[in-house]
Amino acid sequence: MDRNLALEFVRVTEAAAIAAARWVGRGEKNKADGAAVDEMRKRFNYVDFKGTVVIGEGEKDEAPMLYTGEKVGTGRGPEMDLAIDPLECTDSVAHGRFNAMAVIAAGSPKSLLHAPDTYMDKLATGPKAGKVIDLEDSVTGNIKKAAKAIGKDVREITIMMLDRERNYPIMTEARAVGARVRLITDGDVAAAIATCIPESGIDLLMGSGGSTESVLAAVALKILGGEMLSRFRPKKESDIGKIKAMGIKNLKKIFTADDIAHGNQLTFTATGVIDGPLLQGVVFKENKLITHSIVMRAQSKTIRYLTTHHHLHQVK
Ligand code: FBP
Repeated sequence: MDRNLALEFVRVTEAAAIAAARWVGRGEKNKADGAAVDEMRKRFNYVDFKGTVVIGEGEKDEAPMLYTGEKVGTGRGPEMDLAIDPLECTDSVAHGRFNAMAVIAAGSPKSLLHAPDTYMDKLATGPKAGKVIDLEDSVTGNIKKAAKAIGKDVREITIMMLDRERNYPIMTEARAVGARVRLITDGDVAAAIATCIPESGIDLLMGSGGSTESVLAAVALKILGGEMLSRFRPKKESDIGKIKAMGIKNLKKIFTADDIAHGNQLTFTATGVIDGPLLQGVVFKENKLITHSIVMRAQSKTIRYLTTHHHLHQVK
């Protein structure tokens, strides 16, 4: 991949994050999402590449912009497949809650799993425990094995999961074994990636969440050397047909990060909208905005944290 392209994408996520941040706490989730989508689309078209959105904002007729199949970029330069979430955690932004970001994962053509929009059971952890986790094992088994690999007592293990009723059996078992559980209202992309960042204090992500979010997180975990295991958990009957139409006959298949994100022409870029376990959000100062982003490239395994000061008179 063109080395500059990964860094070009950060301008795109910064612009989307700034646009969404203007809607924090205003109770308007669709307007927040729309602002991020509009800005992301506009900024992509300044970048020299031939991008195809393979996981985006629904089908063409459902979402006028950044739909799955849409072509972005100037049309000059390398071909890339894109998985995007212009605003991961629309509700968090609408209600001014913890954890939201703008995200782009990119790879060479056909390198990303084309997941339909449904749920997946997830289990993610950083490099130390990546090889010992197993979605078919019990919650207790996974916590004990991960604790041993990480070198912590089970009581020091912190598990992040979405605060959803469907995840409560996992929460109950994790508490019973003595682990610490942190429930989040939204945002399991950041939670999964945080397992690879020791300073985050998060050791495991457990529970089910969106399938698009699995693809986005898997790209980052692969680059960071962690592991993300995902298995489809259809939301509704009609999802089963969509999964099978992708050529996945075995609905119980467990995908590793490498099954979801192939090869090493991969990049992951995100900018925080509201503070979360991975990134700080957009900070509004008197005459400038400050954004916080992460940019990763699989080929070099480079991880860059960028703090950008945007002068207000330059930001529309
Ligand atoms: P959106 O911003 O697309 O709503 O995603 C937020 C999120 O919390 C994801 O991080 C998570 O994977 C998914 O929603 C969970 O879905 P649900 O809210 O239906 O449980």
